[in-house]
Amino acid sequence: MSDQTYHLAGVMGWPVMHSRSPLMHNHWFAETGLPGRYVFLPLPPERLAAALRALPALDFAGCNLTIPHKQAAMEIVDEVDTVARKIGAISCVVVRSDGTLWGTNNDWRGFLGNLRQSVPDWRADAGPAVVIGAGGGARAVCHALVSAGAPEVRLVNRTRERAEQVAADLGGPIRPVDWSERHDALAGAATVVNTTSCGMTGQPPLDLRLDALEPRAVVADIVYAPLETPFLAAARARGSRTVGGLGMLLHQGPPAWKLWFGIEPEVTPGLRAKMEASLSGG
Ligand SMILES: NC(=O)c1ccc[n+]([C@@H]2O[C@H](COP(=O)([O-])OP(=O)(O)OC[C@H]3O[C@@H](n4cnc5c(N)ncnc54)[C@H](OP(=O)(O)O)[C@@H]3O)[C@@H](O)[C@H]2O)c1
Repeated sequence: MSDQTYHLAGVMGWPVMHSRSPLMHNHWFAETGLPGRYVFLPLPPERLAAALRALPALDFAGCNLTIPHKQAAMEIVDEVDTVARKIGAISCVVVRSDGTLWGTNNDWRGFLGNLRQSVPDWRADAGPAVVIGAGGGARAVCHALVSAGAPEVRLVNRTRERAEQVAADLGGPIRPVDWSERHDALAGAATVVNTTSCGMTGQPPLDLRLDALEPRAVVADIVYAPLETPFLAAARARGSRTVGGLGMLLHQGPPAWKLWFGIEPEVTPGLRAKMEASLSGG
C-alpha cells in the first residue's frame, strides 16, 4: 500500500469523545477493506478554523462536524451548498481536489434513509406531518419531509418565534403551531417526529398527549439515547410503527462516504447491533 492510498476522515467537536461516529466509520473501513481510519478530532471553538484549513495538508478526505461547530464552520469553508445554507448548519466537510473546502448537510438524508429502511412503505405524501421542536435537528427533519413531498408540516415548538423562523428559512408547506395546541395537532397526521431533546437521558420526557394520534401514523424520534424514548414507547403501545433516532446517525454516513471516498457502504443489521450495544454500554 502506498501512503497515498490511506484514507482519512474524522469528527470535529467539543466535547467529542462520546461520539459513536468513529465506531461506525471504522466498521465500514473493515467491511469494505478500504485502507484508512476515522478519528476523533477534539477541538475547542478557537481552533476550528486552523483545524479545518489543515485538512488538505493532512490528506484528509473531509470530516464531520458536531456540537458546537456546525454553524461556525459555515463562515470558514470556501463553499456551502444550498441545502446546508437553508438548514443553517454544516454536518460534513469535503476536501476538494484543489484543496478547497466544501460544506454540506447530510442529517436530512440520514433522517429519510432511516425512515425508509425502517418502514419501507412510509410515504411523505400519505398525509400531514407533525414536527415537534424547532432547533437544528428540526431544520434537517423539516427539509427532509418537505423535499420528500409532505403536503403539510405542522411545526410545534415551545418558543413559537423559532418555529416561524424555520418556516421562513426553509419555505414549503411548513405551518407553525402554538405549543398549547400540540396535542390536537396530531389529528390526521401520517408522520409525527420528536426533534426536541425531551426524552433524552437526563432530560424530562416529552409533554405530549397521544389521544389524537391515529395508529396508521408513523412516529419517529431523533433522540437516540435511550434507543427508545418514552414518547416512542407510548406511540408503539397505541399501535403506531415507530422509528428511533440511532438510524438517522447511521444513515448520514453513507452519503458522506460517497463524497469522501466514492463508495456508499451499507447500514446493515450488524452495524446497527454494534452501535446499539455501544450505546447500551455493551
Ligand atoms: N439522530 C441524530 O442523528 C440527531 C441529529 C441531530 C440532533 N439529534 C438529537 O436531537 C435533539 C435536539 O437536538 P438539536 O440540535 O435540534 O437541539 P437544539 O437546537 O438545542 O433544539 C432543542 C429543541 O428542543 C426544545 N426543547 C428543549 N427542552 C424542552 C422542553 N422541556 N419542552 C419543550 N421543548 C423543549 C427546544 O425548544 P425551544 O426552542 O422552545 O427552546 C428546541 O426546539 C438532541 O437530543 C440531539 O441529540 C439527533
